[in-house]
Amino acid sequence: MNILVINGPNLNMLGIREPDLYGKADYAALVKLVEDTCAREGIDVEIFQSNHEGAIVDKIQAAYGKKDGIVINPAAYTHTSVAILDALKAVSLPAVEIHISDVSQREDFRQVSYAGMACIKTFMGLGLEGYRQAILYLKEYLNRA
Ligand code: DQA
Repeated sequence: MNILVINGPNLNMLGIREPDLYGKADYAALVKLVEDTCAREGIDVEIFQSNHEGAIVDKIQAAYGKKDGIVINPAAYTHTSVAILDALKAVSLPAVEIHISDVSQREDFRQVSYAGMACIKTFMGLGLEGYRQAILYLKEYLNRA
């Protein structure tokens, strides 16, 4: 099993960025959690972070025919990017959406998720643990498929 984990803009600033919302753990800790989870589960993982919408679209397109599924936190692009939604639909790979904070309890402009419209499941408000849950969910889903 071969998955891609994508993190969108400003997630490289974890630990520094609004710690009350996103916690004190930094991006390296997130990468380690994802790598450790995948190693334990026997999953090959590629982890990608970008602050650029087009780079995320390119990465999703490159997953076509190469990866079995995607875990994605599109960050602010969640609420704006039809391009990321279309890319997820184009490759038609099972994708799980994850948000560190509970976006359902935040501003009105965060209440729409374009990427989420192409995802099989969303985890939010669980902190970094949400990534572990998202990976386990995707593994279960792929094993059932
Ligand atoms: C986020 C929530 C988004 O609304 C925000 O723009 C982010 C992070 C989260 O993980 O909670 O950058 O995706």
